[in-house]
Amino acid sequence: MCGIVGYIGKRDVAPLLLEGLQRLEYRGYDSAGVVVSSPKSGGLKMVKAKGRVRDLEARVPKRFTGTTGIAHTRWATHGAPSDENAHPHMDADGKVAIVHNGIIDNASDLRAKLTAEGVEFLSETDTEVLTHLIARNDADTLEEKVRQSLKQIEGTYGVAVMHADFNDRIVVARNGSPVVLGIGEKEMFVASDVAALVSHTRQVVTLDDGEMATIKADDFRTYTTSGTRTTAEPTTVEWEAESYDMGGHDTYMHKEISEQPDAVDRVLRGRIDDRFSTVHLGGLNLDAREARTIRRIKILGCGTSYHAGLIGAGLIESLARIPADAEPASEFRYRNPVVDPDTLYIAVSQSGETYDVLAAVQELKRKGARVLGVVNVVGSAIAREADGGVYVHAGPEVCVVSTKCFTNTVVAFALLALHLGRIRDLSVSDGKRIIEGLRKLPEQISEILETEGDIKKLAEQYAEAKSMMFIGRVRGYPVALEASLKLKEISYIHAEAYPASELKHGPLALIEPALPTVAIVPDDDLLEKNRAALEEIKARSGRILAVAHQEQEKADHTVLVPKNEPELDPILMGIPLQLLAYHTALSLGRDIDKPRNLAKSVTVE
Ligand code: G6P
Repeated sequence: MCGIVGYIGKRDVAPLLLEGLQRLEYRGYDSAGVVVSSPKSGGLKMVKAKGRVRDLEARVPKRFTGTTGIAHTRWATHGAPSDENAHPHMDADGKVAIVHNGIIDNASDLRAKLTAEGVEFLSETDTEVLTHLIARNDADTLEEKVRQSLKQIEGTYGVAVMHADFNDRIVVARNGSPVVLGIGEKEMFVASDVAALVSHTRQVVTLDDGEMATIKADDFRTYTTSGTRTTAEPTTVEWEAESYDMGGHDTYMHKEISEQPDAVDRVLRGRIDDRFSTVHLGGLNLDAREARTIRRIKILGCGTSYHAGLIGAGLIESLARIPADAEPASEFRYRNPVVDPDTLYIAVSQSGETYDVLAAVQELKRKGARVLGVVNVVGSAIAREADGGVYVHAGPEVCVVSTKCFTNTVVAFALLALHLGRIRDLSVSDGKRIIEGLRKLPEQISEILETEGDIKKLAEQYAEAKSMMFIGRVRGYPVALEASLKLKEISYIHAEAYPASELKHGPLALIEPALPTVAIVPDDDLLEKNRAALEEIKARSGRILAVAHQEQEKADHTVLVPKNEPELDPILMGIPLQLLAYHTALSLGRDIDKPRNLAKSVTVE
């Protein structure tokens, strides 16, 4: 969603900011803008454009020089995408410019108050109220102007402020929306996402909620919104700038699907303990005695992460024999959940920023629950809010839809389930069996990726379908859910996922030659039951594509995947279906990395 980038130093700022905005494009946005301050007069110059960063770039005049500036990509919430509603927002005197991520809840009250005082608004955004509050504040310093203005707003923000009268600095603040400082040599950066920084510096400081910072070319300081100084030790970002490049692939999605063998290798690295047939998870903050007292596990996530959580719940139940389930975080937080002290809550999120997940975590913490995070982005809001957790080490994921991070999240759940299982009743031999299975995964994923040519041909055949059905049973059902989500997200083909056992209770009425079914058919104790479902579909002349360990007689096509341990099979069965969605979308000419209406991380309600 919205992205912020800012710079103060000696270099010509506009090209730097535009490059930073390009690096944030993946998050999803509908307009962009930039402000720079003239090195001589300190006056602020602004350009904004509805559309892409390249549209903004085309509007930037030749003489748009400066060495301090802020820029933004906007995802419309208050007011349609337009030039006027794009950020930055400036006051009528052109003194103050701000970029803001998040939502100001009391914007309409403040707007009414300011309008009554004679302020003219140029946009429909909530952000503009903050611009005017800062511009009208008569405190002596920019820090104090910002601080006092923030006190008047309710809601969430990641914000960066420039002022023509204080042009040696940028003041930033965070409450619920990420702000990261990037520390360079006699230059400083600020961004909402390290993606915009890593080509310049890997030394970063992540602000906490309620924290502010002043950045100058050669110095920065952090303090709370009540003015108390805080200490901020820079940390080094692991992800390299190259990890954000396309690396010879036509799309990020293709790159990320292909990276899965390496990504899985990373999530396993250093964690397996052969001596006790278990795994070490250093960040869990849960000792064996505490782990034994857990009576239930509740997993919360959104979208693909929720689906990874469903598979995770299955892994925990089967390996650790702890009752576990997963629920969309967005639903959980609104149903006044009963929070039980013996339940362990696990928040799952690739970005670690998804607002619905973060809000659920905060609600749980408020009620005294223990919450772990299964997160990809190190130091992200959910990771910081949780009591401990497991990083999934998938590396940066740029394509809006998640592939490698989904797979790594499920593997992280397998590690957690094994760890909990071995503390409880999972035997040494079962522990060994799962560890051997985990070690086989990277190689087996590579084998599946080699069949891409065949899957491409199948995708081209199925791409003309108006709708598709996905079915799976028990472990296969979340695989079907995720495959169906992936297909609809990037190809815009309508898709439904059902437990195979539920077919006869309704969806069978839909089956006809024009509705193909993708069936997950592992060679496990439910094989015969799954075959019966295929018979039911075939009897109604439905076309079937099976993902299976052996050729399925009733299917029109079978995609074969290598067999692992039954508990880990869902990880492998999902991979060909990522490729199926990918090639279907490709043959339909879709914008795969940036599907319509979707954002990589949804940081607002
Ligand atoms: C958005 C994305 C989905 C993603 C979901 C959760 O809706 O479009 O692809 O699965 O957010 O994101 P998270 O970062 O929390 O895993």
